Amino acid sequence: MANLFEGSIKESRIFLNRDIMLPHYTPERLPFREKQINEMVSVLSAAINNSKPDNMFLYGKPGTGKTSCTKHVLNQLDEFAKSKSMPIRIFYMNCRHYNSKYKVLSKIVQELYPDRDFIGYSGTFIYENLLKYCKENSCRLIVGLDEIDKVKDLDELIYALTRANDELQNSSVSIVGVSNQLTFKDRLDPRTKSSLCEKELVFPPYNAAELRAILKDRVEIAFRPGVVEESAINLAAAIAAQESGDARTAVMLLLRAGDLAEENNLEKVTDAEVKKAKEIVEEEIVMDMICSLPEQQQLVLYSIAKLTTDKKGIKKLGKDDCILFSGEVYEEYKKIAEKVKTSSVSIRWFQEYINELEMYGLLLTTNSGKGFRGQTRLIKLGFDGEKIRNVLEKHLVVC
Ligand SMILES: Nc1ncnc2c1ncn2[C@@H]1O[C@H](COP(=O)(O)OP(=O)(O)OP(=O)(O)O)[C@@H](O)[C@H]1O
Ligand SMILES: [Mg+2]
Repeated sequence: MANLFEGSIKESRIFLNRDIMLPHYTPERLPFREKQINEMVSVLSAAINNSKPDNMFLYGKPGTGKTSCTKHVLNQLDEFAKSKSMPIRIFYMNCRHYNSKYKVLSKIVQELYPDRDFIGYSGTFIYENLLKYCKENSCRLIVGLDEIDKVKDLDELIYALTRANDELQNSSVSIVGVSNQLTFKDRLDPRTKSSLCEKELVFPPYNAAELRAILKDRVEIAFRPGVVEESAINLAAAIAAQESGDARTAVMLLLRAGDLAEENNLEKVTDAEVKKAKEIVEEEIVMDMICSLPEQQQLVLYSIAKLTTDKKGIKKLGKDDCILFSGEVYEEYKKIAEKVKTSSVSIRWFQEYINELEMYGLLLTTNSGKGFRGQTRLIKLGFDGEKIRNVLEKHLVVC
């Protein structure tokens, strides 16, 4: 009998290697990030000269190359240290998954002692083993914590990793923290902030010319020769530059445009496919961004989406618009926080979260002006309420 997959092998007319356009691909060349990469190399090279590298904090908007640069530099250091048999151990983890001090330390210790099982052991025991390994191996540990803002007890984690150095000689623990939450740093405990941010690196958004060059590099290896029209590349770069300066958006636009060309049996990827891809990609990016927001911001956004879709706001001001008072959103947010058994933040932080959500384009706000229930802030969703609500309901398990 013929195998079920017989006949499923398809030769793509569009892609040479579609994987290269996927978000998890780490390019070998990272143009326009030479400064940041050199700086990271200069800080981390302390480890190969047998001293402790400073802790580093990398930040910038989404899609500005933070993850790619971090992985690239850490991989290079790992390769180099291994080739010279240097006692340097590198860790990289995304704190969306490793979101507590316990999880981060367990992951490190488990990698240090692969033959032992640390599941279920106390945090103290795990921490002691980390120190033991460093002492016995005179080892330099570099811990890359991507999306570090997701760690729930970050003050405790940073404190533990920093304090380890007080007990170590000829060995050390250094942190490379990464975040796209622009005001996250200001929210840190001052002691945590000064420990983590010994060196800071900013990743600015890319401009259209930079995005065009990044795309050209990528298209050359991912698509068949001549399939993607030059103007389609320029358009994808221009759209991404105008919206966010985000290389992820730019790459995703060409990926989806390529998919559309493939589905429709076209021979070329033109402006038309990029224009169609724009809507798909915008939604994918917004939904992904919502999933990666810290839990408290997700709760604030969810309260707004819920009130909007339940049509609780003032509808008179516009036909389909639903406009909410900041006070009623705060009340709803507190109710939901209680339901998901999370403590709620003060009104001051709540206002701060509203500001950030507005900065990401997820909300629009305006002041009501005097005389309308006193001075109050009016809030409106920037995207489809149903979609936001659905994605957050899956994420937050609120029902
Ligand atoms: N300088 C660059 N050259 C080539 N590709 C790049 C460059 N910068 C970013 N990219 C590409 O853009 C996409 C997003 O980059 P990356 O994941 O590094 O961004 P990020 O800053 O970590 O974003 P986020 O804050 O959302 O995590 C990836 O597909 C990456 O390959
Ligand atoms: Mg990243």
